[in-house]
Amino acid sequence: MSQSSFPANFLFGSATSAYQIEGAADEDGRTPSIWDTFCRTPGKVLGGDTGDVAVDHYHRWRDDVQLMADLNLNAYRFSISWSRVQPTGRGPAVQRGLDFYRSLVDELLAKGITPWITLYHWDLPQELEDAGGWPERATAERFAEYASLVAGALGDRVERWTTLNEPWCSAYLGYGSGVHAPGRTDHADVLRAAHHLNLAHGLGTQALRAALPGRAQIGVSINPAAVRALTDDPDDLDARRRIDALANRIFDGPMLRGVYDEDLIQDTSRLTDWSFVKDGDLADIHQPLDALGINYYTPTLVSASADRKLPRRDGHGGGEQSPWPAAEDIAFHQTPGETTDMGWTIDPTGLHDLLMHYHRETGGIPLYITENGMACDDKPSPDGTVHDPDRIAYLHSHLETVRRAIADGADVRGYFLWSLLDNFEWAYGYSKRFGTVYVDFESLARIPKSSARWYAEVARTGELPA
Ligand code: NOJ
Repeated sequence: MSQSSFPANFLFGSATSAYQIEGAADEDGRTPSIWDTFCRTPGKVLGGDTGDVAVDHYHRWRDDVQLMADLNLNAYRFSISWSRVQPTGRGPAVQRGLDFYRSLVDELLAKGITPWITLYHWDLPQELEDAGGWPERATAERFAEYASLVAGALGDRVERWTTLNEPWCSAYLGYGSGVHAPGRTDHADVLRAAHHLNLAHGLGTQALRAALPGRAQIGVSINPAAVRALTDDPDDLDARRRIDALANRIFDGPMLRGVYDEDLIQDTSRLTDWSFVKDGDLADIHQPLDALGINYYTPTLVSASADRKLPRRDGHGGGEQSPWPAAEDIAFHQTPGETTDMGWTIDPTGLHDLLMHYHRETGGIPLYITENGMACDDKPSPDGTVHDPDRIAYLHSHLETVRRAIADGADVRGYFLWSLLDNFEWAYGYSKRFGTVYVDFESLARIPKSSARWYAEVARTGELPA
C-alpha cells in the first residue's frame, strides 16, 4: 500500500440527516418534531428558515441516490425521522413512513451503496418533549421501542446502525444554551439529558441486538472535543481536564468503560447529586460495540479565566447562556489559523489526536469518521459550475490525516463526508453550505461542485492525489 492509498474495502461515503434534507414535513402521517416547533419560534432560526421543504429529498431521493452512484460513493449515512415512522413517539408504526426508507435502502443496495442508518439525529417527536424530553428517563425507554420497530422493518436489508448522532449537541445545545431545539436553558437538565441519551444508546443497542441477532453492526456517533489548554499553567490544564470530562468522558465513560468518572461527578456536584443514575444503568449503557463513529470539525482551546487576549468563542453560536454546566470560570478561545464559513479553525491535527486516543481507549473497536467537512460561501459561476477549492483543500488535509492515523496503527475503516448536499444547517438555516453538491434553494436543482468530482476520484481509486 503506497503512502497515499487507503485500505481495501475502506468506506468512502457521504452523510446527511432527515430533518436537514427531507422536507415533506406534514406528508404521509409525519407529525411535528422538536425542530418543527423550534423553527416556528420567532428568533430561533436565522431568517425564520424551516425544514418544511428543505432540499425535498423525500420526493427526489431516487435522483439523489443516482447522484451518489455517479460520484462513486460506496456508503451513505442517513437518519430516520422518528416522527415519520412513529409519529407520537410511542405505539404502532406508520407503514408509509417505513416504506419510504425501505425504498431508499433498496435503491442504495441496487447501486452497490452500503446504507448506514442513524436512528436519532436530533428530531425528537414533539409529544415526547411535551412529556419532558431527554431529561426524563421514559424518553430513553421510548427510544428503545422505536429502535426495535425500525430494526423489524429494515433489519433484513440494513447491517450498519448508529444509535445516536452527537448526543453532546442534543443535551448541551438543546437544554443548556438553548440554541438548538427544544431551546431550554437549565444546566441541571443538561446532565440529566446526557445520562438519558446514554441510556437510550444502551437500551437501543440491546433492542437492535435482540431484533437482529448476529446481523447488526452497531455503533454511535460522538463529537468528541479535541481539547487543548491555552498554556501549561496548572489552572489551564485543569480547565482542559474539566472540559474533557464534560465534552467527552460524560459519554464515552459509560459507553466504553461503564463508568461516570469521579471528577465529572465532583465538578458538577453543585448542580446535581446524579441520583437519576439508577442501579443497572451503567451496565445497560456499557454494551459491546462494532463501530465507533467520530464527527470532527475543529479543535477546542480553553483556559481557566476569561481574562485572556485571544478572541473568545466556543463555536456553537451564542445563546442565552453557555452550553457548559458548572464551567462559568472556563474561557473558550479561537484556535489560530484559517477559518471556515462557520468561523471554525481548519486544523486536522485534532482529528489525528482523536483517532489515536479512541484507538487506545476502545481496545480495538473499528473507528469511522462519520462526519467531517466544511461550510463555504459557494456560488455558481456564470457558466453554471460551482468551484470550491477551499473545500477540496480541507478534505485533502483531513483525509491525509486519516491515512496517517491508519499508518500510526489506528483501525479506521471509513470516512463520511458532511455533507452530500447543501442543506438546513440548524440554527443557521440555509445560510451555511456544507454540501459537495450545490443546491439552488429556489429551484432545488442540484449541481455537483468541484469537490464532489475530486472526492469521486478518491473514492474510485482509493488514493489521495499527490
Ligand atoms: C454536526 C451535525 O451532526 C450535523 O447535523 C451538522 O449539520 C454538522 N455537524 C455541521 O454543523
